[in-house]
Amino acid sequence: MNDRTGRLIVVSNRLPIVVEREGGEWSARPGSGGLVTALAPILRGRGGIWIGWPGTSETPFLGDFLRRAGGEAGYDLRGVYLTAEEERAFYLGFCNEIVWPLFHDLLDRCNMDPSYWASYRAVNARFAEVVRASSEPGDIVWVHDYHLMGVARELREGSGSSVPVHFFLHIPFPPPDIFLKLPWRRQVLEDLLRYDSIGFQTQRDRHNFTHCLQALMDDATVRGKGRVITATHGPRSVRLGVFPISIDYDEFARESATEAVARHAWEIHSNLPERQLILGVDRLDYTKGIPHRLRAYRLALERHPDLIQKVSLVQVVVPSREDIPEYRALKAEIEGLVGEINGRFTQHGWVPIQYMFRGLDRGRLLGYYRTAEIALVTPLKDGMNLVAKEYCACSLEENGVLILSEFAGAAAQMRGGAILVNPYDTEGVGDAIHRAFRMDADERRARMRRLRQTCRNQDIFWWVGSFLRAAVSRDLGDFPPRGGEGPSRIAPEAEGRG
Ligand code: ADP
Ligand code: F6P
Repeated sequence: MNDRTGRLIVVSNRLPIVVEREGGEWSARPGSGGLVTALAPILRGRGGIWIGWPGTSETPFLGDFLRRAGGEAGYDLRGVYLTAEEERAFYLGFCNEIVWPLFHDLLDRCNMDPSYWASYRAVNARFAEVVRASSEPGDIVWVHDYHLMGVARELREGSGSSVPVHFFLHIPFPPPDIFLKLPWRRQVLEDLLRYDSIGFQTQRDRHNFTHCLQALMDDATVRGKGRVITATHGPRSVRLGVFPISIDYDEFARESATEAVARHAWEIHSNLPERQLILGVDRLDYTKGIPHRLRAYRLALERHPDLIQKVSLVQVVVPSREDIPEYRALKAEIEGLVGEINGRFTQHGWVPIQYMFRGLDRGRLLGYYRTAEIALVTPLKDGMNLVAKEYCACSLEENGVLILSEFAGAAAQMRGGAILVNPYDTEGVGDAIHRAFRMDADERRARMRRLRQTCRNQDIFWWVGSFLRAAVSRDLGDFPPRGGEGPSRIAPEAEGRG
């Protein structure tokens, strides 16, 4: 990045890699989750900085390792190191036992342990310190997601920095009747108002936020309409924008057209002759509605005998947050349902559900996207859901049907081509599966074309461009790739050992 324009500094809880020790040596694998998929193509090759946690509390000394991994990707990686206790109280505790369930409207799953808040504050202060040490006047600091709502405040108060700081929330923002249950509700709103701009995924999220502001802060005002509005509280004005996040559509479509992916797609379907493949791909998370989906599939098999032997559900679950008891219980529930459904319906030569509990390598994941005739994306609530967009980008034959939850952020953009469902409505989802199964080729093509066009027009570069224009009157063109495109992604095997 040249000095005149400054650098783009991305700050998120996780770096785009997870560093692990295997047999005494350090290695890295790409992180899972939508945030990493979305942001990696933006920084790639542009020479900015990504600040985050390397995903291990085993060592605070990964500087050389991160320098090498960053060199591969074409931007700097700066580590923020958490102790084992901070991993427990900040990451697993405040972030994932309080904010995550609350912001997804699942109050019953919250563990409002009062001891977590101090750790949240302390870790946000540590992130702020690394931002301060890494940034220079002219840089654009862009903080991401619910783990780091307090970084702007810590930067202003703790280190007196005046560098502009922007924030994007990847998950939903809840309505007042849910948010007001948070014991630290006022502190969180005050912290968020210390940012210069806040981006939300959907109008609904921003609307919820402004309603919470009005409910809790008598003196806050909100002005304007359209993509960017302004909230004022005391002397501070904050821009509030709606920017639905997306994927690098061209790269997914290009990769999906490769020989290797075509071979995977062919292999997958050659094992399932004369059958439609229904695909579910999710991190292990109760917000994804996996048990609800399995029950809907079971009901569809009961009610529509023409599905027997003619469909197979492939459910991929990517391990996530297994140190939290709720996640372990969810895994057991999913596996119980899969066993029950397979035990009941399996016939010679046909198993109704193929279940995988692991991360797939990218070629295979794209093979599934490309070849599946139906995708079941039915979260109970989701900030965006990039799997839905990836499926469409890879559906090159345009014969895929997307069944999408109306409570995914993606529904706002994709309602035109998807079959929208209420994930709590078991009969409705079951009927949608049957409808998708019977949909003729013309309707499939017309719907998938619309979906692909939306994802192509509003891709990840459109997203970052909208943010930069609205927040700082800049464009992604102000941050050109340095010396070519850079590597297409961090390849763990190419990173060497620390
Ligand atoms: P979330 O951020 O809540 O996990 P998203 O649907 O937005 O949900 O993003 C999930 C991301 O994880 C997608 O970009 C997807 O490609 C990636 N992913 C999902 N399943 C796998 C898998 N089995 N192996 C590797 N990456 C995966
Ligand atoms: O996209 C939502 C998100 O929570 C990201 O912020 C996060 O990185 C991802 O899901 C995966 O979760 P985790 O970082 O807890 O493994």
